[in-house]
Amino acid sequence: MKDLKEPIIVALDVDDLESAGKLIEEVGAEVGGFKVGLQILTRVGPPAAVKFVQERGGKVFLDGKFYDIPNTTGKAARAAAELGVKMFNVHASSGIDSMMAAVENKGDSLVLAVTVLTSFDEEPGNLSLGGPTKVKVLQFARDAKLAGCDGVICSPQELALLGKRRELGPDFLRVTPGVRPAWADPNDQKRIMTPGEAIKAGAHYLVIGRPIYNPPEEIGSPLAAVKRIQEEIAMAWAA
Ligand code: C5P
Repeated sequence: MKDLKEPIIVALDVDDLESAGKLIEEVGAEVGGFKVGLQILTRVGPPAAVKFVQERGGKVFLDGKFYDIPNTTGKAARAAAELGVKMFNVHASSGIDSMMAAVENKGDSLVLAVTVLTSFDEEPGNLSLGGPTKVKVLQFARDAKLAGCDGVICSPQELALLGKRRELGPDFLRVTPGVRPAWADPNDQKRIMTPGEAIKAGAHYLVIGRPIYNPPEEIGSPLAAVKRIQEEIAMAWAA
């Protein structure tokens, strides 16, 4: 039996460590890790944010979205690896050499490539990416595989497409935000799937923020929200 906690990564989208601490304490034992992103990283700095989570027993997804020349990306990757994070990410659009530099310096961490931000709809995606979003996602995923990355971040909509590609292989990780249980507010997420749907479509990890740290009243608490999500994952795995 696979571990129901493992696929759940809670987005620590908070402004201060005090709020982060409460959430980690409440749900830490029931999830696979916590994503520290630009908001808290810019407030307190990566080493402080990462250590704070680790000292409370949480594993860290360092969502620093590196985008730079290979030399700089490689050195940033080494710094991330030395912090002992479970995973960190680099933009696939920074190029194969930049991703390779991240991979060479990843230590024991997993390197994930950001494909196309889920905030791009098809139309603006076409304009700024120079092609249909799904085509670009597949191209970036292939580049990431070639560079030796462990997987990609993609929207739920691309999970099935990437899962079918033999050149990527079944172990190539697919990590997806834009996940909303049926009971949660979609907020600003547009192309959403429920946790069960995303797992069935081939997600290895689900990055979930507001439905957990700000659950609707009828769900009650972050811990209750996590338990509901675990049930959905169990049902999807059993299906
Ligand atoms: O609150 P919510 O579940 O929408 O949070 C999703 C998290 O995933 C946020 O931290 C957001 O920044 C992140 N994310 C996203 N779409 C992307 C990349 C990251 O929603 N394409």
